[in-house]
Amino acid sequence: MQLKNDLILRTIRGEQTERTPVWLMRQAGRILPEYRAVRDRLSSFIELVKTPERAAEVTIQPVDLLGVDAAIIFSDILVVPEAMGLPYEMVENKGPFFPETIRSEADFRRLKVADISDDLAYTPEAIKLVKRELEGRVPVIGFAGAPWTIFAYMVEGTGSKTFSKARALLYNQPAMAHRLLQMITDSTIAYLKAQIQAGADLVQVFDSWAGILPEEHFDNFSLRYIAQICEAIHEAPITVFAKGAFASLQAMRYLPCETIGLDWNMNIQVSRKVLGSSKTLQGNLDPAALYADFKEIEKNTKAMLDAFGPYQHIANLGHGVYPDTDADKVRCFVDTVKEYSMRMRES
Ligand code: CP3
Repeated sequence: MQLKNDLILRTIRGEQTERTPVWLMRQAGRILPEYRAVRDRLSSFIELVKTPERAAEVTIQPVDLLGVDAAIIFSDILVVPEAMGLPYEMVENKGPFFPETIRSEADFRRLKVADISDDLAYTPEAIKLVKRELEGRVPVIGFAGAPWTIFAYMVEGTGSKTFSKARALLYNQPAMAHRLLQMITDSTIAYLKAQIQAGADLVQVFDSWAGILPEEHFDNFSLRYIAQICEAIHEAPITVFAKGAFASLQAMRYLPCETIGLDWNMNIQVSRKVLGSSKTLQGNLDPAALYADFKEIEKNTKAMLDAFGPYQHIANLGHGVYPDTDADKVRCFVDTVKEYSMRMRES
């Protein structure tokens, strides 16, 4: 199926497009009342993730309701540990919880490399449905967590401000940490390939907890495994979003990936300089900027677009959209990117 809107893909290839493409991290699920309506008909978040028809439905909602230039498949990064043998629960209003965690060799020995066709077929299945229903309106983004971020949840067992148990393991049992990271990496490569095979037009790796590692640990326990993933994925372009990894941007320049996501703390001009001209950049408006009034949102969005310049930029927030954001404010952000980035090219 030929894509009718391939702005993102042309931008990634470095082409001079007619305007800047835009989508939002966490656009599916967090903010739309239409998502709640679908979600409330099922017993849980996890059931929704595992029901391809419904996951497909909520994946497409932001395309219709927000006007974004891509759909991101509705799932979660924590489906990978589950497929490796470590199930999770999603506690309402609290977040993920793993009844069992990985802290010792004995815990580690119970895990396996995920078998996608057995344990993770529901996401590729949902992607196939999304592709069919979208009929090429916009590209579909597949995703996975970066090995370090997945490791952090598997060791800690819940979200955490410090992930101190996960970080302690890097100091106390580095050899085991590497073995676990390698197993997550192997599972993730197979999972991303299955998503692309099912029709994902590009994929993104989320390293949400990159920023809590010292530079040396990020390079050694995170970036190294992200690089393995980038080296293994040739079938579609790949975006790496390592939140808080500003100190390692220089090293990320050499990742074999097409796009680097910037968080809102990263200076746009400095990042562009450090990353060089071969990378497309994605981001990076502060998600809190969408709490402002419409005029202020327009102003900040335009300033961001000016800083990135017209080409090799995919407009997005610097992290996922916050759950209590007004959908009209999101639409203001999306519409401003579309209108202003077109005008930028005329002047
Ligand atoms: O981007 C999208 O809209 C697609 C769907 C998506 C979800 N999770 C659905 C979800 C994506 C891309 C994710 C990624 C994810 N999940 C990350 C990386 C991105 C980031 O924000 O840093 C992380 C760290 C997780 C782990 C996770 N899942 C947490 C911490 C939580 C708790 C609450 C929250 O929203 O952050 C989740 C639950 C979750 N994942 C929900 C949704 C829609 C909310 C639960 C519900 O609907 O009941």
